[in-house]
Amino acid sequence: MIVKIHFKKSNKTIEVFPGNTLLSVARDHHIFIPSPCGGNARCGGCRIRVLQGKDLEDISAEEYLKLSDEQIEKGFRLACSYVIKEDIEVDI
Ligand code: FES
Repeated sequence: MIVKIHFKKSNKTIEVFPGNTLLSVARDHHIFIPSPCGGNARCGGCRIRVLQGKDLEDISAEEYLKLSDEQIEKGFRLACSYVIKEDIEVDI
């Protein structure tokens, strides 16, 4: 199965296999997402917003530590923790 990720600000859509984090997929496709802690879910610097396809069921413990309940409700996630499972649109 292939899923599509649409990067709204970049106006770029990529097709990938599910299972990798958004940060690693973005890096592979030369789309910059700040990652001060190197993708180790410690800094919160890779915060992005999922505009479509947000899944509130698989939020990691690290995301709960770095994001407020309100941010999570609005679709914010940590790109280094967010594993791609389905078509999404992100505000990058
Ligand atoms: S890169 Fe630091 S929390 Fe994701």
